[in-house]
Amino acid sequence: MNLILLGAPGAGKGTQAEAISAKLGIPQISTGNMLREAVKNGTELGLRAKAAMDSGDLVSDEIVIGILKDRIAEPDAANGFILDGFPRTVAQAEALDSMGVRIDTVLEVYVPDERICARMSGRRVCEGCGASYHIEYKPTTEPGICDKCGCKTVQRADDSPETVLSRLEVYKEKTAPLKDYYAQTGKLVTVTGQEEVADTTKLVFEALGIAD
Ligand code: AP5
Repeated sequence: MNLILLGAPGAGKGTQAEAISAKLGIPQISTGNMLREAVKNGTELGLRAKAAMDSGDLVSDEIVIGILKDRIAEPDAANGFILDGFPRTVAQAEALDSMGVRIDTVLEVYVPDERICARMSGRRVCEGCGASYHIEYKPTTEPGICDKCGCKTVQRADDSPETVLSRLEVYKEKTAPLKDYYAQTGKLVTVTGQEEVADTTKLVFEALGIAD
C-alpha cells in the first residue's frame, strides 16, 4: 500500500504514520525527519534547508523532491510506504506523478487550528532517534527520556507559538490546494483527529480498511 498523509502541522500525521507503519510493516517516510537529521548532521543539504525550516517556511521543491526520490528507491520501500509530509505543494505532487509512483490513498487528518496550537506546545521529540511524544497525550514513561532509545526529549525548534502560526499560514496557502488535487483522483479520504491518539488511530485504520 502506498499512502500519503496530508494535514496541517501538528495534526498528527507523524503519530498516525507510526501506527500504520507498525500495523502494515511498511516504512514511514517523513521528509521533515530527514531534513531535521540533515540539519543536525550539518550536511550541505541541511545547511540549505535550515533557514526555511527555522522560519516555518517550506524548503525548496528541488531539495525535497531529490531526497524523496532517493528514499523511495530504497529496498524497504519496495512493498509500500507512508509519505508523511510529502507532497507539500502541487509541484511536489506533480513530481511524484511524473516518477510513475502509484498512490492508493491520500489520508487527510483534519484538526481545527485552535487544537493545533495546544498540541504543538506540548510536543517533545527525541534528540537521538526523533521519536515524537506529547507531555499530556502521549507521555514518555520516564519524564524527558525517550522510551525507544533512552536519549533526552526536547521541544522542536519550530514549535514556538510564532513559528507555528506561520507554518499554519504556509499550510493554507501552499499545501491545502492538494486536497482538491487529490479529490479529483477520487483517492482523498478525510479523518477528523480526536482528543485521544488511540481514537484517531481507530478511525484511520477503519478509513484504510485495515481495522481488525
Ligand atoms: P514536518 O516535520 O513534516 O512538520 P509538519 O507537517 O509541520 O508536521 P508536524 O511534524 O509538526 O506534525 P504532525 O502532523 O506530524 O503531528 P504529530 O504527529 O507530531 O516538517 C517540518 C519542516 O520541514 C517544514 O516546516 C518545512 O520547512 C520542512 N519540510 C518537510 N517536508 C517538506 C516538504 N515536503 N516540502 C517542503 N518543506 C518540507 O503530532 C503533534 C503533537 O500532537 C504530538 O506531540 C503528538 O503526540 C500530539 N498528538 C497527535 N495526535 C494526537 C491526538 N489525537 N490527540 C492528542 N494529541 C495528539
